[in-house]
Amino acid sequence: MPPISIAIDGYSSTGKSTLARRLARDLGYIYIDSGAMYRAVTYYALSNGLLDEESAHKPLLDSLDHIDLEFRKAADGQQAHIFLNCRDVEREIRTLEVSRYVSPVAALGPVRKKLVALQRGMGQRGGVVMDGRDIGTVVLPDAELKIFMTASPEIRAERRYDELRARGDQVSYAEVLENVRQRDHLDSTREISPLQQAEDALVVDNSQMTLEEQYGYVRELVNQVMAGIKKGRH
Ligand code: CDP
Ligand code: CDP
Repeated sequence: MPPISIAIDGYSSTGKSTLARRLARDLGYIYIDSGAMYRAVTYYALSNGLLDEESAHKPLLDSLDHIDLEFRKAADGQQAHIFLNCRDVEREIRTLEVSRYVSPVAALGPVRKKLVALQRGMGQRGGVVMDGRDIGTVVLPDAELKIFMTASPEIRAERRYDELRARGDQVSYAEVLENVRQRDHLDSTREISPLQQAEDALVVDNSQMTLEEQYGYVRELVNQVMAGIKKGRH
């Protein structure tokens, strides 16, 4: 059977990447973390002082051609990490500081244009699980399976807070919750490709689901889609 494409969209910290990574591993597909690409552009902008609200971030837009992004196996050989101009920045892009600036950067038309083109190129042959905000609506509108993940903001903030504390970041639960809420708002209300459920996406609310339950549920959906394709129903 030809490989399918799976699009996973949804709010911040709903478990999209954990799910997508495991699905890709089990199916032998590639995993593309589109959020990591927006985070890497934001990290580049912050590191080089390129954000300037007054000029609608012109310094960053003028520098987009100098940003090279790719996913490569990390030095430990386990997971693919994002490389920014040949440097592994997987850890640096996960800070709360990057989370604070990423939504305004991701709302910029030229940034989206560049990253969507790269993502489409990475997904063109199928056999891909991609997660983000506009994958089912814009990047891979023909994906055979589209999932839209949601969970309550408090639960998502708790999950992200635990993650940041575990890596040693000194953050408070209140500031993580505020960031989750702010990004929900900015990502859903921006003009270009806002976070929206695709018409043909299946909604998964995992507020009360463990990672294992969530995986089992979605894995079954994958099986159903694949069985439908075999029978010529898709
Ligand atoms: O992991 P988390 O859900 O916190 O966020 P992420 O997937 O790493 O994405 C970070 C930010 O990138 C989001 O809040 C969006 O502003 C932006 N993003 C986007 O606009 N479009 C995508 N396809 C993926 C991410
Ligand atoms: O990619 P996204 O921001 O949507 O979420 P993630 O990075 O996959 O998950 C955020 C955190 O929530 C991780 O530490 C997951 O282990 C945790 N999580 C959970 O505990 N239970 C779930 N049902 C989903 C995610």
